Amino acid sequence: MKTKIILLGPPGCGKGTQAELLGDRLGLVRLSTGDMLREAVRKDTPLGKEAKKYMDAGALVPNDVIIGMMKEKIHDLGGAFLLDGFPRTVEQADALGKEVDVDVAINIDVEDEELVKRLTNRRSCPECNSVYHLANKQPKVVGICDKCGCQLYQRDDDTEKTVRNRLEVYRENTYPLIEYYRERGRLATVKGVGDIEYIYTQISEALK
Ligand code: AP5
Repeated sequence: MKTKIILLGPPGCGKGTQAELLGDRLGLVRLSTGDMLREAVRKDTPLGKEAKKYMDAGALVPNDVIIGMMKEKIHDLGGAFLLDGFPRTVEQADALGKEVDVDVAINIDVEDEELVKRLTNRRSCPECNSVYHLANKQPKVVGICDKCGCQLYQRDDDTEKTVRNRLEVYRENTYPLIEYYRERGRLATVKGVGDIEYIYTQISEALK
């Protein structure tokens, strides 16, 4: 099985949802730059203070900040990892490529209007980072995380205006990574619409 894995795709395509399943079922170490940054914001660290202004606007945190944050972690990753939200620019992909040889970049393909509906109705757990949806993936008890019992919240960047900006930022900065990994023979694309378990099966096939 391929064990050095990147999840690519626009905001809301299901990277976090699928990363949670892959991590739980295949035991892969999951690293989400979004979750790491949100934790830094919650703890009000210097990194969190710096990142917050970009995240609230739906912009990317500058490459040097992200690469600095990830460098040691990437180095320590060794043979098996699942990256969710990194790399997001060609510069970040080059930095990653200097440390490890990626087996596969899974591109989860979903159209914009579906992404807007998903993100504006998403609810997240601040503690374990599980994600839910008001209609598509409801918790067993309204407003409470199934996994850890914490109160769910709506992310500040999940308003329609910020989501549309994130989609533009994605198109300009991250979309070129599809070609980047295709040229290197590392790209697998799965359709990210429909049953979450079916999408998981397709991703599992791409890891063989
Ligand atoms: P990050 O947290 O990485 O956000 P994102 O890439 O915008 O992705 P999302 O978490 O919004 O979506 P997702 O694809 O994980 O979808 P999910 O599974 O939750 O980054 C946030 C910010 O941090 C960035 O804007 C940037 O500022 C900064 N940042 C992070 N990394 C960076 C980097 N490398 N460089 C620079 N800046 C960086 O699903 C979404 C919803 O849809 C959920 O409600 C879910 O239940 C539902 N859903 C999932 N699958 C389905 C399905 N098949 N059908 C119906 N609903 C579904």
